[in-house]
Amino acid sequence: MDTSMTSSDGAIFSMDCDRRCSYSVVVADHVLECTASPLHRLLRGRRALAVTTPTVHAFYRQALDDFCRWGDIDLLVLDVSEETKTLATAERICQRALALGLDRRAMLVSIGGGVCSDLCSVAASLIRRGIGCIRVPTTLIGQIDAALGVKGGVNFEGRKSYLGCFTAPALVVLDPTFLRTLQRCDFQRGLAEIIKIGLVRDEGLFELVESAWREFIDTRGRTPTSRLIIERAALRMLEELQGNPFEDKTYERLVDAGHTFSPRIEAASGFSIHHGEAVAIDLCLSATIAAEAGLMSWNARDRVVNLIDAIGLPAFTPVANAALCAAALTEAARHRGGHTDLVLPRRIGEAVFVKSECDLQPHVVPAAIERLEVDASARYVAAGSGAAARA
Ligand SMILES: NC(=O)c1ccc[n+]([C@@H]2O[C@H](COP(=O)([O-])OP(=O)(O)OC[C@H]3O[C@@H](n4cnc5c(N)ncnc54)[C@H](O)[C@@H]3O)[C@@H](O)[C@H]2O)c1
Ligand SMILES: [Zn+2]
Repeated sequence: MDTSMTSSDGAIFSMDCDRRCSYSVVVADHVLECTASPLHRLLRGRRALAVTTPTVHAFYRQALDDFCRWGDIDLLVLDVSEETKTLATAERICQRALALGLDRRAMLVSIGGGVCSDLCSVAASLIRRGIGCIRVPTTLIGQIDAALGVKGGVNFEGRKSYLGCFTAPALVVLDPTFLRTLQRCDFQRGLAEIIKIGLVRDEGLFELVESAWREFIDTRGRTPTSRLIIERAALRMLEELQGNPFEDKTYERLVDAGHTFSPRIEAASGFSIHHGEAVAIDLCLSATIAAEAGLMSWNARDRVVNLIDAIGLPAFTPVANAALCAAALTEAARHRGGHTDLVLPRRIGEAVFVKSECDLQPHVVPAAIERLEVDASARYVAAGSGAAARA
């Protein structure tokens, strides 16, 4: 009989467990006021710390106060931005949780944009090594992207989302009524992420945005078509995330479209270029690279660039020069397990992965940058002559 406790490789035990998660994403209007909502059901009998930002607090003070009074909920109003999306700010949430004596069953409730939800996810993953986190995203990017998956992150040493966690939320509540107070620019930025998912995954969604973006922005998502766009974008995003939420199955992620060059663009601009704008620029770069490489027709590429430009999002920035793009591709390979896995559209609604920079001819990226720069100058001149003609 073999009395040895070790296997041939010297291990006394081989741990083999799956990381699973399940959570619901629900759509509910005026969720803070509706005490029968899934949010209230989950919080009944638990302590909670709700975290929001000054802007959201100013618009929804009464509803937030009533919500906190309804339950055993404290409110932390935290002034956050991309510049302060740091570990130190996440620690401020942890400090409040400690001061309140939150127990293991307690919940953090993020009621704010993507920055707020990323910070809360990081804090929730740290407090007692992990307490529950509920996300109530109040921006378009939050509702169709940032709040849906399991990732939270903070910026570190000038690197976008370098530190973070894979922490599944306990619940996500999409309340489109929050979007009514959003500024136009935040709606435009959210559209960049919607265009992304349409471009790589859903031609019909892309076409919906092409036909309805003006009504979508002007009504702040109030019309039935606008609500359809939001729900369809969120669904496509969730479908994409579902098979690989912890990113441990594959690094080939369609949702990484628009997110290869954009982190560097944001960081290199000192975060003066917002995430959504950087994604728009990245999408234009990716579509132009695809056209230069002969993967996608120039006609389809022009649809992408024209849509982004019409919406009022940037299609180009001088920040995205050849050196930055080369560095971004190198960093992408570091981040994605050794492969670049650049997502390039093949047509509207379908994309492929470029595994390595070597799969692209050397002239392709610089040519794409030059093309976008020329297009941007032409648009600038056209806009100037239009203004001159009107004067
Ligand atoms: N974790 C992820 O998977 C993931 C995915 C996508 C984006 N993100 C992150 O999300 C962030 C971008 O999110 P964002 O666009 O929501 O930015 P944001 O959180 O900075 O919010 C944008 C602005 O909207 C204001 N605001 C929020 N809700 C409002 C409301 N209802 N009415 C009026 N104003 C309101 C905020 O005060 C802020 O000024 C980035 O940091 C990005 O990295 C994370
Ligand atoms: Zn994004």
